[in-house]
Amino acid sequence: MAEEHSTPPPAISRRGCLKAAGVAASAVAAMGGAAWYARALAPQRLEVTTHEIPVADLPLELDGLRLAHLTDLHASAIVPPEWIRTAVDRLNELEPDVACLTGDFVYGSSVWANGCAKELARLKAPAGLFAVLGNHDHWTGAAAIAEALAQSGIRVLRDESISLDVRRSRLQLMGVDDPGLSCLGDAALWDGLSQEWAEAVGFVQQTLAEVPAGVPTLLLVHNPDFMELLSGLAVDVALAGHTHGGQVVLPFAGPPVLPSCFGDKYAAGWVASPGGPVYVNRGVGLIEPALRWNCPPEAALITLQRGTAAAGTPRRTAAASGYNRGEGLSCDPYPAA
Ligand SMILES: [Fe+2]
Repeated sequence: MAEEHSTPPPAISRRGCLKAAGVAASAVAAMGGAAWYARALAPQRLEVTTHEIPVADLPLELDGLRLAHLTDLHASAIVPPEWIRTAVDRLNELEPDVACLTGDFVYGSSVWANGCAKELARLKAPAGLFAVLGNHDHWTGAAAIAEALAQSGIRVLRDESISLDVRRSRLQLMGVDDPGLSCLGDAALWDGLSQEWAEAVGFVQQTLAEVPAGVPTLLLVHNPDFMELLSGLAVDVALAGHTHGGQVVLPFAGPPVLPSCFGDKYAAGWVASPGGPVYVNRGVGLIEPALRWNCPPEAALITLQRGTAAAGTPRRTAAASGYNRGEGLSCDPYPAA
């Protein structure tokens, strides 16, 4: 019987073995480190952004009016009161005139509403604190959350408009309630969502028809998709949240998940919508999976301006935190100038 001969496999040296183990251990450590950063550290790296938005025919008295904008607080077991407190403190330092809160005050249960409202009530805004509810507020108890906010001195606007006397002038503030639906990337849900919003569109239409010329209009709405229904009804400025910027934004690929019927159009930052310029704030809190990556939490200060640029052309002026996310990695399409 012929004897079989085969070439023996090359022997792996002890040194090579150690090297391979070292590379594998480093890769695991890097992944573990990234996961730890995304879960434990990144959600706390609040970015304070400041913006100027030109408004056509803005009364002289309102030139420089400052709006503090917070959204998607998501007070819960994964978002402690300290995170909300920090956002409030940072905005108070910037001395806003009006505080605008665009919904999703809790996550998972309305039991967190009182604590959230208590923190938000510390906002110092002489012209008042105003809020609209978000989809998570509706899922967990809209009435209880609205009551908690009201008890803390925050005026909740549920398809309501208020004429705000500020700086010896007038601002029309509209607040749209949320229908409690979210697309989560499925555009097929848009028909149902737009039908749920039919009354709210009528409310905005009627309010804009009644507002005298020269009175600027400000719209608060949780879900920025609503702006798609306002074609031909341009408001001067709209503020929204809901999308969290995607929470996780992959380099050059963007957010894997975004709750919108319109792709990543309303992911974050200023968007020229059919209803006028809308600022989509990335929010203070987050939901499960409780990760942030390339998409820091945000508190925004928006300043109304007259006569410096074409109306509706916003300008981001600064990222006050100095947090640099790096080239090509940002979830914010309008980085600081
Ligand atoms: Fe949210």
